[in-house]
Amino acid sequence: METEKRLPPKILKEIKEIPTIPDVVVKVMQLTRDPNASAKQLTMAIANDPGLTGNLLRLCNSAYYGIPRVVSSLNQAVMYLGFHTVRNLVLTCSVSRFFNPQKRIYGYVKGGLWYHSVASAMASEQVCKLTQNNLRDSAFTAGLLHDIGQLIMGTSIKDTAETIVDLMKNGGLTELDAEEEAVGFSHVELGAVLADQWNFPVELIQAIRYHHHPDQAPDASFLPAIVHVANAIVLDLGYGVEIEEMKHPAKPEALQKIGLQPDQLDELKTRVAELVTQNAPNFLAMAD
Ligand SMILES: [Fe+2]
Ligand SMILES: [Fe+2]
Repeated sequence: METEKRLPPKILKEIKEIPTIPDVVVKVMQLTRDPNASAKQLTMAIANDPGLTGNLLRLCNSAYYGIPRVVSSLNQAVMYLGFHTVRNLVLTCSVSRFFNPQKRIYGYVKGGLWYHSVASAMASEQVCKLTQNNLRDSAFTAGLLHDIGQLIMGTSIKDTAETIVDLMKNGGLTELDAEEEAVGFSHVELGAVLADQWNFPVELIQAIRYHHHPDQAPDASFLPAIVHVANAIVLDLGYGVEIEEMKHPAKPEALQKIGLQPDQLDELKTRVAELVTQNAPNFLAMAD
């Protein structure tokens, strides 16, 4: 890590080892925000990691990206897909390594949280297509990483999974309240603190922090509402979900903020289901 930021004491007490994000992700995040960065710098940063390059090219040639010819080099990938999509691919391939498919995170079946994350990334992109199209690239990343706090909570904090599930199923608490009660903080708080620690862009940190309560996000910030709606659709479709209590409808304020009519939700849901069925297997294979 470049800068060590302090974590709040209540989080430090529970999480002894702060997961580090691979250097290549930090580097690629920086480059895609630098207006003077060149395609060469981007491909060099990725090429340092042969495993990542292989996975990236495989994914880049999948139907999801619809490139009419076979892409066999990083240069071609940048040429066809552009900087931001390649950044998304780097993130997807890198974070997939954290999501152990054998691991069960509370609320989800084994490997279900990765499925949920991939589906949310695709859904966030679709929500943007109908609303804030200019945010499509950041929406994919935000959808993919919105529950990163839950992944860390589910893997690093022992013996709380059953309590959280019990509080949701039998205590009638929401996911966030159950986490607060069992651990002292929620996955959105943890995720946002870690994303800040990893120097993620502010809009991504906000999407992570406010995806359950987009009404609390700053006015100019649309990503939390986009991810909130995508998350609700994907939960409703049930990918990887184990308990019904995880599901919640999209809040009307969120729909209003991004200018989505409630009657567009069904159409969106059908589109997301099609996309996920077709494309998720290629993404899920990353974590195997
Ligand atoms: Fe969440
Ligand atoms: Fe989620």
